[in-house]
Formats: sequence, C-alpha cells, structure tokens
Amino acid sequence: MQTELWQQLLAIYGSPLYVYDADRLWQTLHQIPAQVPYRPTTFCFAVVTNGNLALLQLVRRAGWHIHANTPGDIYLALKAGFAPHQIVYSGSNLSVVDMQQILAWGVTTFNLDSVAQVQQLCELAQGIPQLKLGLRLHEPAIIGESRIGVQPPEFPQAVAIARKHDRQIQGLHFYRGTGTNATKAFTTVIDQLIGIGRTLPDWQYLDFGGGFGYPYRHSKVEFDWQTFGDAITKALTGTGIHLILEPGRNVIAGCGILLTTVVAVKYQGEKQIVGVDTTIANFTAPSVYGDYREIIPLQDRAEKVLTDVCGNTTYSRDYLGKNLSLPPLQIGDKLAILDVGAYGYAMASHFLHRPKPAEVVIKGKDHCLVRSREDYSVLLSHQQNMEKIYEMY
Ligand SMILES: Cc1ncc(COP(=O)(O)O)c(C=O)c1O
Repeated sequence: MQTELWQQLLAIYGSPLYVYDADRLWQTLHQIPAQVPYRPTTFCFAVVTNGNLALLQLVRRAGWHIHANTPGDIYLALKAGFAPHQIVYSGSNLSVVDMQQILAWGVTTFNLDSVAQVQQLCELAQGIPQLKLGLRLHEPAIIGESRIGVQPPEFPQAVAIARKHDRQIQGLHFYRGTGTNATKAFTTVIDQLIGIGRTLPDWQYLDFGGGFGYPYRHSKVEFDWQTFGDAITKALTGTGIHLILEPGRNVIAGCGILLTTVVAVKYQGEKQIVGVDTTIANFTAPSVYGDYREIIPLQDRAEKVLTDVCGNTTYSRDYLGKNLSLPPLQIGDKLAILDVGAYGYAMASHFLHRPKPAEVVIKGKDHCLVRSREDYSVLLSHQQNMEKIYEMY
C-alpha cells in the first residue's frame, strides 16, 4: 500500500514533506510524446512548475528539453545539465541585464513578447550567430484577454527589425493561458495558428504552451493528448514546420503530494476544523488561485464529516482545503494533499515565516532526499545592517 510508504517517509524525513513519484513522471514523459506522433517535435518541460534538480535530471534523461520563463529557470536547467541549445526561452519583459545574462549562458531560442524586446535582443546579440527568434502571439479572439504577446499587425515591424540585423523571425509561439482541460480549446485553433504563422516570411517553428490542463478534480474531464496529437499531426504533416510543445503542469502536477500531520482538531457546529503542520505558504495554490486539491487521510475510516483543513498560522486565508468530506481526525493523523507536483514547492514562500518542507523522490519503494528541510536560519538569509539602523536613533 502506497500509504504505508508515505507513513514510513514521514517517520524518516519528518513532516510536512513533499514527495514525488519518479515512475509516474517517467511514464508521463514518455506517454505525451507517444500520443503526439508529429515529427520533428521538441517536448519542453516548464521549469516554472518545478525547479527541483533531481526531477530536472529525469526530464533530461527522458530526452525532453526545457521551457524557461525567466533567467532563473535557465540557471536551474543549466545546473541540471541541459545544454543551452536545449532551452527555449518564452517569457516576457527581460531587462538588458537579463538578456545579456541569457545570451552569455548561450541560449539560442527566444520567443519574445513585444517588438521592443525584438529590437533590444537584436542589438545585444550582435556577433552571436544562429539565434532562433519567435514572436509570442497576442490574438484575443483565440487567446482571450491576455497581457502576453505581439499582435499580428505588428509582425511586419518585428520582421523588419530582425532582418535589419541579419536575423529572421522563425517562430510563432501560442500561449493558451491558464490550464484548461478542454482539448477543443487547442485543436480548434490549430489551422488559424498555421495561417498566422504563414504570414511570417521566414516561419520555421510553431511553439504551443502552456495552458494544457490537469484534472485536479479527479472526476472531471482530462486534457486528451491523443486527440490533440492526432489533430496537430494532421495539420502539420507535410509543412516541414518544427513543433515545440511546452505542456507545463500537465506533466508533473500528479507526480507530487504534500504529506502533513494533524496537530489540532476542533468542531464549529457540525464542521470539523483540522489544523495541520503545513501552511498555504508551503503550498500557495489554494490561497492564490482558490485552487482545489484532493486531500486524503493516510488512515481512512468509513464515517465522514464536513471538514476544513487549515494551516499552522493565524493568516485568515490559511485554508488548504474547504468543505471536504473527511473522517473524524485525531492529533497525529496524517494527510496527503494530492497533485502538488506543479506550482507546489516552486511557489512556496517565506510569507508567514515558516521554513519550507523537505523534498523526497520515490521510485517504487526506494526513496531519496532531494532537498533538505529548511530551518529558521533561512529567515535571516541576506539580511544585514540591523545594528546600524538601530544606532541611527
Ligand atoms: C510560455 C509558457 N509555457 C509553459 C508554461 C507552463 O505551463 P502551465 O500553463 O501549465 O502553467 C507557462 C506558464 O507560465 C508559460 O508561460
């Protein structure tokens, strides 16, 4: 039983604890490419979802490349052993310093978010051969309201700037916004995207991502890779266009759980209020996005009561789950918060001044600590000159 292993992990590594299932990640990293038969296709893991180096090693081993949202994503990918040409930068609003850094690291593919960023990169990259430049698409009719992207009427200006610097705009990047499980939201726009891509005179690649959803409510519909894969293969076959996919949370959400221990139980009327030893600062999605995650007890009992699961701070929004159906719990019981592999640890912060949990990777019954638990000293990190300010008064 999986829950027995989880109990063991808590006994060994302490609570709260992020746990990642390497086999599940490995399977997903192979299943998605198998369902998208079009070639050439490059599958890119989004570091923004999870920057743990042990998991990034696995991603590299599976032959995936990297989608980087920020210079920090690139830094982590390089530390995980990816070559610079395996990293596709698709982000927004880089400063001159950022661009210089990314160029110095040797990254060669840039999907840019404005004509001004194209101009800036072309000026900074003088003398650097073989850059692949793409435009992130802003088209409200298919993307909805978004701050991201360049509008098609601006494309000729971007192309002219690139050409003036002996470069080409070779890529069109489509970002579908927040995760959606509606496969149609992707398949119905493929032809339109190809049409827009063809307006770029030097068009060579189409980059899709993110936005591919994950069914956090397990009863709900899942994104259908087979349907998407068939549709994109049909549409691109014969074009010679290189496809890049950035599936984001869809790859890794289900591989991670956050184990936590019940530290207090009380009742407000019929409702059970369960206090646990973790907080929304360790896992922010419920408070930032109002996201739902399934929470399961490690020792299940038949009786169920309406339950809120609350964090170990006084912050009024510190709810990890609301109106759940859980058994009556006792101090010391363990819970697993499911599907936290994406935007879990990656979004954890020191808000509320609780150090971050440890991270463990499991493969079958084997387990390995891949990030140690923080202690309170982390709260002092980079702080300085306290006495100096004190003495000023
Ligand atoms: C360009 C791009 N690709 C991929 C991702 C990650 O995918 P997801 O949509 O699952 O967050 C993001 C997230 O911000 C993104 O901006």
